[in-house]
Amino acid sequence: MDTPYQNHIDKDEFNYVYEPAEDSFLLIDALEKEIDFLRKKNPLLCLEVGSGSGVVITAFAMAFPHCLCFCTDINHRACLMSQSTASHNKVFLECVNMNLVTCFVDKKFDVLIFNPPYVETESNDCLSNGIVASWAGGIKGREITDKLLDMVPKILTDDGIFYLLLIKENIPEEVKEIMLQKGFQANLVLERKVKNEHQIVIKFYR
Ligand SMILES: C[S@@+](CC[C@H](N)C(=O)[O-])C[C@H]1O[C@@H](n2cnc3c(N)ncnc32)[C@H](O)[C@@H]1O
Repeated sequence: MDTPYQNHIDKDEFNYVYEPAEDSFLLIDALEKEIDFLRKKNPLLCLEVGSGSGVVITAFAMAFPHCLCFCTDINHRACLMSQSTASHNKVFLECVNMNLVTCFVDKKFDVLIFNPPYVETESNDCLSNGIVASWAGGIKGREITDKLLDMVPKILTDDGIFYLLLIKENIPEEVKEIMLQKGFQANLVLERKVKNEHQIVIKFYR
């Protein structure tokens, strides 16, 4: 999976939008590891929640030219950057300024991707729709993630796949248990220790 061209981005914009970092690239590497599996599934609709600069969904769109790719972000500037990253890499992307997936109709997406704001913070920090929304995850760093978990069964097709990035402080075992209750199995796709963070990508499927 190729890393999208990003030189079009004005670096000052990263004061307002999440700059791609090790977590973004771990997620791309995880999708790359899954590429043969995903090709066999022939996904038609893919959604990345919280696309930030758009590097992850653009990498996906470049690898799956026949898949219609969507993304959402609560940060309007992130939506504009995602759209621009896609067009500079010559792929089509429909980006919607939205809270999680609230406005999408049921059971449409074959692939769902989320690199959430995962840092433990006060709950109030989760109310941002600016740069703080990039990292502020509230209690256990899970408040935004847990909201999306509740929406996953509604948004995914019956054999859809959900890729989620977490760190150890988010207590991945608890997340797996929550998803098990919703009928999803979990597999670890990739993990990496980066500075003081242990990042993992988990795949959920029915
Ligand atoms: C850790 S950043 C990841 C950005 C990008 N996907 C990447 O991997 O580089 C989290 C992103 O989620 C967005 N976000 C946070 N809360 C959200 C919400 N409730 N709905 C949609 N997007 C949200 C943030 O604005 C930010 O762009």
